[in-house]
Amino acid sequence: MSETQSNYNYKVVRQFAVMTVIWGIVGMAMGVFIAAQLVWPDLTYGIEFLSYGRLRPLHTNAVIFAFGGCALFATSYWCVQRTCHARLFCGPLAAFTFWGWQVVILLAAITLPMGMTSGKEYAELEWPIDLLITAVWVSYAVVFFGTIAKRTVSHIYVANWFFGGFILAVALLHVVNSCEIPVSLFKSYSCYAGAQDAMVQWWYGHNAVGFFLTAGFLGMMYYFVPKQAGRPVYSYRLSVVHFWALIFTYMWAGPHHLHYTALPDWTQSVGMLFSLILLAPSWGGMINGIMTLQGAWHKLRDDPILKFLITSLSFYGMSTFEGPMMAIKTVNALSHYTDWTVGHVHSGALGWVAMVSIGSIYYLLPKLFGKQEMFSVKLITVHFWVATIGVVLYIASMWIAGVMQGLMWRAVNPDGTLTYSFVEAVKGSYPFWTIRFVGGLLFLSGMVIMAYNMFKTMAGGNTADAPVLAPAGHHA
Ligand code: HEM
Ligand code: HEM
Repeated sequence: MSETQSNYNYKVVRQFAVMTVIWGIVGMAMGVFIAAQLVWPDLTYGIEFLSYGRLRPLHTNAVIFAFGGCALFATSYWCVQRTCHARLFCGPLAAFTFWGWQVVILLAAITLPMGMTSGKEYAELEWPIDLLITAVWVSYAVVFFGTIAKRTVSHIYVANWFFGGFILAVALLHVVNSCEIPVSLFKSYSCYAGAQDAMVQWWYGHNAVGFFLTAGFLGMMYYFVPKQAGRPVYSYRLSVVHFWALIFTYMWAGPHHLHYTALPDWTQSVGMLFSLILLAPSWGGMINGIMTLQGAWHKLRDDPILKFLITSLSFYGMSTFEGPMMAIKTVNALSHYTDWTVGHVHSGALGWVAMVSIGSIYYLLPKLFGKQEMFSVKLITVHFWVATIGVVLYIASMWIAGVMQGLMWRAVNPDGTLTYSFVEAVKGSYPFWTIRFVGGLLFLSGMVIMAYNMFKTMAGGNTADAPVLAPAGHHA
């Protein structure tokens, strides 16, 4: 073994971990900004680059792909090396995934405010950027599966199954949904038309939730919860069933985004049915994660990293209960187009995705910079409470606003005329949008506290990479 092969590649993990926090702040600041625009619609009046319609996709891209993406790269690269007892495959390619991904993010930050968009939600970036994403993603797959191939332990730990499933599924989704015909350097049209286009888009959209925002983060859960709790996974058998059930079921649920549209009725019913089935594997996974704490519940009291991880699982359970309910056609008739959906999104995005990432990155940072623990554990506790109060304010206000909007839109007088005009529902929503703004601001402040703690931990840190563990050992 050469000298470099005897150490883990922590450099790329370090880079992605630090950028997770930076992009988290940027993406959430965009979220707070657009939340403010909804409360004060004249905020950026006349400045087209800062208009709501252009900044909203910038927010979603920044939080999902920049913040979430960097967290997934960092944790998967850490987990796959440590559990395979092997240095990451092909260092230069791993470095390319880091720099390539940052370029994608910068290009998004430039083109979206300029109004360049393919118009497909969560896939707005134009075709040249799509090609770069493909190159980065294929390299990611080569690095990840290359590391699995050169592992020195025979077993492939379950977290790697989730990370691997996420990488393969996202590749498939991106290639199929981004099939487009360029008409200029900055404009393309989808290969699909009409109802087919909508179906492909929401097959993509829902699986972006299922694989980008869920499967990869479950990989995180299966590695970092047992690590932080110092306990093995509650049921390894359940984790394998969880994996196969989840990836099989998610693929069919997309049509629940298109209830009561031109999509054939039976397709909508299939989407609803699979969404209901999805409750089982989702809760199986949540229970497996939470029960991993069995025998170590006391640790929850004063370990804020564990608090982040376990609370994220509670939000995961909550949003995967809410989702199947919203997929029932009669419920969707009320919830669709309202802020209830936005509340659901953020109980998943902030409560689950952001919190599990934050917990995992707090676990990683001291190890990546040769420290025993974070600069201030107290500040992690402060971050936890600020973030939790922030999410609760966000989602509770959206639930109330959403149900209110749905009920106001459908209310009719005895003579059949509408009870409320649309603008009355908008007026009624203002107090709740203000509460959401405050909740978002709290969550963002938590991220700023995290950045401070991170830079203090990095200061004077030792960036020497740890030696690769001997083949005989158990999961690292
Ligand atoms: C400080 C935190 C955040 C704030 C204040 C915030 C705020 C917002 C606002 C105001 C919208 C637009 C809602 C509308 O059009 O009515 C939105 C949409 C969205 N946000 Fe966030 N957000 C935050 C964090 C996040 C995070 C961390 C994620 C993902 C990991 C995320 C994912 C999304 C998604 C997917 C949408 C689109 C929802 C839909 O189309 O239904 N957000 N956010
Ligand atoms: C069992 C799991 C889940 C099911 C069955 C489910 C179901 C649904 C349903 C029915 C909608 C509303 C569609 C509409 O009326 O337009 C929705 C929207 C959404 N959900 Fe979920 N959900 C689940 C879990 C999650 C999780 C864990 C997240 C985030 C991490 C999430 C993110 C989203 C997003 C981003 C949207 C908004 C899409 C858009 O319109 O832009 N969902 N989900």
